[in-house]
Amino acid sequence: MDNLDDLKSELAGMITDATDMHALEQVRVSALGKKGQITALMKGLGAMDPEARKSAGQELNLLKQEITDLIEARKFDLENAGLDERLAKEKIDITLPIRPEEHGTIHPISQTIDELVSIFGEMGFVVAEGPNIEEDWYNFTALNIPVDHPARQEHDTFYVNAEKEEQRMVLRTHTSPVQIRTMQSQEPPIRIIVPGRTYRCDHDATHSPMFHQIEGLVIDEKTHMGHLKGCLIEMCRAYFGIDELPVRFRPSYFPFTEPSAEVDIGCSFEGGTLKIGNFDDWLEILGSGMVNPNVLENCGIDSTKYQGFAFGMGIERMAMLKYGIPDLRTFYDTDLRWLKHYGFQPLDVPSLVGRAGL
Ligand code: PHE
Repeated sequence: MDNLDDLKSELAGMITDATDMHALEQVRVSALGKKGQITALMKGLGAMDPEARKSAGQELNLLKQEITDLIEARKFDLENAGLDERLAKEKIDITLPIRPEEHGTIHPISQTIDELVSIFGEMGFVVAEGPNIEEDWYNFTALNIPVDHPARQEHDTFYVNAEKEEQRMVLRTHTSPVQIRTMQSQEPPIRIIVPGRTYRCDHDATHSPMFHQIEGLVIDEKTHMGHLKGCLIEMCRAYFGIDELPVRFRPSYFPFTEPSAEVDIGCSFEGGTLKIGNFDDWLEILGSGMVNPNVLENCGIDSTKYQGFAFGMGIERMAMLKYGIPDLRTFYDTDLRWLKHYGFQPLDVPSLVGRAGL
């Protein structure tokens, strides 16, 4: 057993020289495999006398253990080296430009609805909705616009089922039928805001056959014209973000309100550009009035006990005025360049809170 030290350093050298797993395995087989050098020496123990076998056996076992440990350690190193090499090779190149990410924007019509709903929401209004294809009765008759009333002509109505007079439906010409549906289904007090699509047979630079309105309705026992004025003045100032915005109520006529008023805001047309604010001119933005008692009675509401006001305005018009959008038709072109320019980020709506006096 004199040559064990030599064998050990020879094997240790081979282990260190093994540069991959395959080479290392060959070293293991040549030392510890069935025909390996250490295995052969182990086999020779049987021929020795007991004294010599004992000490040689111990030495051989120790050598076997040392070689096994060296192989394991080398294996570990080789595995780690492989990992290090992969980590170095597969590094992410963070200098590459990122893929451009497309962000959508909120359409100005949705934005304007959100803004107005938010303002009226702070005044205690809740959103109500109704069908776009409406019964003639809800769109006209119940709103105090009987058959042959001249106001029907002004609405340029799209009729559905026009040939069957008694089943005739309309594409609603305004959001006002939702007033009727709400008053039929809810007890006062009522305080609703109704955004939605409306339709009229009209098409030019300032009219689209489909457009949007937002309607308001308040019904209780005490609401009067002063509340109507206060509510709409606050809304105009909050929406346009101008504390001193002049707001004017001009007598008007709607079959479903009495008295009725159109609402104008201060503006200037100087130099051909429209500016909203404390100037000498006026711009009409909405219709309003105290709910006509006939309308209350049509809905089964006692008009001697209950009263209130209603108003309605065009959403596109409100958006065009606030955001300087010149052509109504561009709202429906679905042109992404236009949307990128006029679109909005989410959660960007005005509030009454923090405005002068509130
Ligand atoms: N419905 C009216 C229109 O479309 C607007 C309006 C609503 C006027 C409520 C008064 C009260 O023009």
